[in-house]
Amino acid sequence: VPYVQRPEHLILDDVFVDLSGIVGQPLSLKCEGFNFAGSIKLKTAAFMVTAAEEAAMIKPGSILIESSSGNLGVALSIVAASRGYEFVCVMDPRSSALNRRRIEASGGRVVVVDELDDNGGYLATRIRAVQRLCDSDGRYYWLNQYANDNNWRAHYHLTAPRIAEQFPDLDYLFVGAGTTGTVTGCAHYLRDVGHPAQIIAVDSTGSVTFSERSGPRFIPGLGTSFRPEIADRTLIDDVVFIDEPDTVRMCRLMAQHGFLFGGSTGTVVAGATDFLRRHAAEGSSGLAISADLGDGYLDTVYDDDWVSRHYEGSEGRLPRGETAVPGKVVER
Ligand SMILES: Cc1ncc(COP(=O)(O)O)c(C=O)c1O
Repeated sequence: VPYVQRPEHLILDDVFVDLSGIVGQPLSLKCEGFNFAGSIKLKTAAFMVTAAEEAAMIKPGSILIESSSGNLGVALSIVAASRGYEFVCVMDPRSSALNRRRIEASGGRVVVVDELDDNGGYLATRIRAVQRLCDSDGRYYWLNQYANDNNWRAHYHLTAPRIAEQFPDLDYLFVGAGTTGTVTGCAHYLRDVGHPAQIIAVDSTGSVTFSERSGPRFIPGLGTSFRPEIADRTLIDDVVFIDEPDTVRMCRLMAQHGFLFGGSTGTVVAGATDFLRRHAAEGSSGLAISADLGDGYLDTVYDDDWVSRHYEGSEGRLPRGETAVPGKVVER
């Protein structure tokens, strides 16, 4: 029975769903959304903060800072609250209002930058704001998840060993790529222990982590507009790209069976299903990782008006049973 003193100590690492009856392929899903931050990023946040403590990079009175519009910001606000640090999260006007309120509810401070950068986004402005704050006050410590090796080490030590233990004969592991912390950590571990699984990264079309072609993306979690420093393509056997309308379709298919997952889970499951259909031999098995649950996506992935506004060709409402959303992504 889990019985914890600190929120980051609740890690339910043995929650799996058999998706084969839903997607028609031999696919299981490892669910990482059942914790106090609601996502896999609680492991990343706790591991990075502990490593910084052990390296004496932070001490009582330090202020943790990160640029994040999503799950890592929420997770860091919880770890900071649990360990008595202040936390500042730099966000932008596109960041989710729900995440902002979650961070503030745990005592975090949100700084919103509103100046567009040269790419028409806010990333460069956010990073500049973090650097300015760090330069202004020595108490700040920037976690920098895109370049921090303790991001992928969290999954090396916490996520991958349970996969190897539960699925010793697994053929394919499918992992979504955002910062690439999860896929890099799992790949390093499975290679180190000689596990036979092929590692397949799943990314959103338009992300530049493993491709040169950038494009608009609207669903948070996966994909980047710059290549993360911790990304290592040599550890990965293959990369699958999924268009966001297919992400929406897969999320809604799972939801119709009572499994309300976050947007990136739709991407990973769509990628895994497509890959297994094309490549898997009879009797092979796949496992995908789900980063979070769907509550935070009710106004986006699960909202018909949002979907028709963002993806051309969806023609208004998506019928509940008929969830195909063909068409290309609208430039905004
Ligand atoms: C919902 C969701 N899915 C997937 C990911 C990707 O994980 P990683 O950054 O380890 O590549 C993230 C990361 O923020 C996320 O928030």
